[in-house]
Amino acid sequence: MTFLNPLAVEYASRFSSTEDPLLSELHQYTLAHHPEPHMLSGTIQATFLQWICEWIRPSFVLEIGTMVGYSTIALARGLPPGAQLHTIEKRKADISIAETYFQKAGLSDRIRIHEGDALQILPQLSYTWDLVFLDADKTGYLDYYEYLIPRMRPGALLIADNVLFHGAVLEENIKGKNAKALHAFNERVSQDDRVEKIMLTLRDGLFLIRKK
Ligand SMILES: C[S@@+](CC[C@H](N)C(=O)[O-])C[C@H]1O[C@@H](n2cnc3c(N)ncnc32)[C@H](O)[C@@H]1O
Repeated sequence: MTFLNPLAVEYASRFSSTEDPLLSELHQYTLAHHPEPHMLSGTIQATFLQWICEWIRPSFVLEIGTMVGYSTIALARGLPPGAQLHTIEKRKADISIAETYFQKAGLSDRIRIHEGDALQILPQLSYTWDLVFLDADKTGYLDYYEYLIPRMRPGALLIADNVLFHGAVLEENIKGKNAKALHAFNERVSQDDRVEKIMLTLRDGLFLIRKK
């Protein structure tokens, strides 16, 4: 992400744990074969998601935007025994790669993957969420947020990715529908009394939003 000091980003990765072999294989596969490999969470972010999951010890985790399952595997590795991770993805081709890697990781029994548009799938999942990772279409974030906050238990955490959108939200005159949607989402969250929030400048911006 070039809007962050690249030297600081490189320094931080040099001193952090390295990518494990399976995620590294999936990463390399994605770089070689996927039309949009830049969408994958990086190593540090994936480790961060896994640790959050380990700390929270959730029973029900939701991810919107599976892609090839890189962040899903990280989250699933952090699950306590008996917990479930539901993940939603609209692209069939991505789902088939993700499923292959869930098997390789030995995590297929913990992960339920739902194919289709997230807004259509969500009403079929009648769980009370402990942890949500939002990483799909940026113009949908507000709708997902308004739908999910009442369906999260008090103290549950929603993490929204890309809230700095490569720095585009920092412009005085924000351009582009995604950056505009993310800025509107950020404003809504900041005004919402139902939640506490911390926006981290990790990678492309991670918004940690905790339901009161
Ligand atoms: C940024 S990628 C997810 C990256 C993944 N979470 C990771 O960190 O490795 C976003 C994914 O969301 C999917 N997506 C976008 N809009 C969607 C929607 N309305 N419903 C379901 N999936 C959607 C895209 O097909 C894409 O694979």
